Amino acid sequence: MIWAEDGKSRPICRDEVGNHAVQTAASFRLMGPRLADRLPDMAMAEKQNEYAAPSAHPTSERVFSGVQPSGLPHLGNYLGAFRNYIALQERGDAIYCIVDYHALTSTHDPEAIRRNTHDMAIALLALGLDPGRAILFRQSDRPEHTELAYLLSTVVPIAWVERTPSFKEKKRNRPEDVNHALLTYPVLQTADIAIYHAGRVPVGRDQQAHLELAREILRAWNRTYGEYFVEPEAVFTDSPVILGTDGVRAMSKSVGNVIEILADEATIRKQVMSMVTDTQRILRTQPGRPEICNVCQLHRFFGDDYEYIWDGERTARTGCVDTKKLLADRIISHFAEARERARELESKPDDVEEVLHAGADKLAPLAAETLRVVHDRMGLARKE
Ligand code: TYM
Repeated sequence: MIWAEDGKSRPICRDEVGNHAVQTAASFRLMGPRLADRLPDMAMAEKQNEYAAPSAHPTSERVFSGVQPSGLPHLGNYLGAFRNYIALQERGDAIYCIVDYHALTSTHDPEAIRRNTHDMAIALLALGLDPGRAILFRQSDRPEHTELAYLLSTVVPIAWVERTPSFKEKKRNRPEDVNHALLTYPVLQTADIAIYHAGRVPVGRDQQAHLELAREILRAWNRTYGEYFVEPEAVFTDSPVILGTDGVRAMSKSVGNVIEILADEATIRKQVMSMVTDTQRILRTQPGRPEICNVCQLHRFFGDDYEYIWDGERTARTGCVDTKKLLADRIISHFAEARERARELESKPDDVEEVLHAGADKLAPLAAETLRVVHDRMGLARKE
């Protein structure tokens, strides 16, 4: 992260959406979920054409990311990743995947997998992902990912996957279900990205270790079978780690410290009101410390007046309860339109499935071409 030239506290993420589209909290607020609606028509048409048939030529500019189908999306997903999915689709070469194969490493309930995959598609579309500009698909609709994962796994020393932080954590937290797919999770993630030769991967900080491992895996394959795969780079927003309602751990469904942005108003209010604030501010009359208060930090994304709000905390003009109520109101109103779109999409399940299938169909030639080259290089049966 670098800092604005004016020296003010405006963080700029170098590796974001081009030089001009630095995504500060302020630009996010201005942009909202539908920046795309304000682009000139010509530019839009051009992007759509560009997008119609993804080129088979490896490029480091192609964008790919994946999300597990795990219920309603939370604020961490949105501020850490989804808003970059939406911003990056404007470049016209972005692919987003709902990773149901990955979800099988922790869920063995077929109905839940199917329902959550469908619901995540609804959420992404409602939040502004536009199938006219980006491809959205379900991982299991392109089973070539699993074949490539197997082929890549032949150059991956076991120690590399055993030392992955997420594997160690899951092993610790769920010792009763340490399955083989959990160990090879990052290899499948590498295949997801590499099969389309994507070079830019919008993710939150928790995925950084996976991305570094992906680079190592692809480098190992290139060393063994000749240069072919590009090494993907993570693209972060200016808030790559959003803390949960406990104010300590990263927001995560598995920890149970989430604010579900598309939930009903009462749920959002309850989740925000449960947030831990500055633990040293015990009395209403005591001054608070907005720098370490998660509620104050989240206000940065939901209004231009966050410095005024911080000042209220510092001077005890306002209490934590006031600041939380205001945050809940703002989150509810910020996502009101998206919530409404989600309700609409819920009544059109076939349309949503159609978007996912069309996305997977568009990717078929690209996936086939990658496997053709990989088969050839690795000495397997030739593919036409
Ligand atoms: P997943 O489903 O856990 O999360 C989806 C995205 O949300 C980001 N995120 C956060 N960002 C900031 N703060 C948080 N508290 C927070 N919680 C979640 C995640 O970093 C992620 O970008 N392994 C991936 C899915 C995946 C994938 C891929 C990603 C599979 N294949 C290929 C990129 C490329 C995952 O479980 O994300």
